[in-house]
Amino acid sequence: MQTIESLKLFSILVLHGPNLNLLGRREPGIYGSVTLEEIDRLLVTEASMLQAKVYCMQSNHEGVLIDAIHNADEHQGILINAGAYTHTSVAIRDAISAVKKPTVEVHLSNIYQRETFRHHSYIAPVAIGQISGFGAESYRLGLQALIHYLSTK
Ligand code: DQA
Repeated sequence: MQTIESLKLFSILVLHGPNLNLLGRREPGIYGSVTLEEIDRLLVTEASMLQAKVYCMQSNHEGVLIDAIHNADEHQGILINAGAYTHTSVAIRDAISAVKKPTVEVHLSNIYQRETFRHHSYIAPVAIGQISGFGAESYRLGLQALIHYLSTK
């Protein structure tokens, strides 16, 4: 007998950290010319193909990002580009660690090819993985990796 498993609809919280609202006009040589709105649209489209939904938000404030992580109960996973907080925020790292939601860290630029202060991520040890250096594609790849993780665990 054949059984048909119902399709699971995953809900993913997408968090963009400081200065990412300026994408498109912020150092395009490093971050590309794609805007944040375009990235969010790309993620909505990709999510629908992966039987998932994304809820995207951006903040320039550490506490707002932390509150969003604390309130992520309804989501199964988190996709985060914490921007410069990646390299400074023990508090964001602790929030991710506290809520125990599978988290994928993404970066547009390859942080390891840049200044040494960008080589360390406080998020990486509490993330299931990190994707860095593929421009806006990093987000799509990160979402795919997160959904793959959730659907196989
Ligand atoms: C970034 C890399 C960070 O070092 C930087 O502070 C950012 C963007 C990236 O996506 O490449 O704001 O997270």
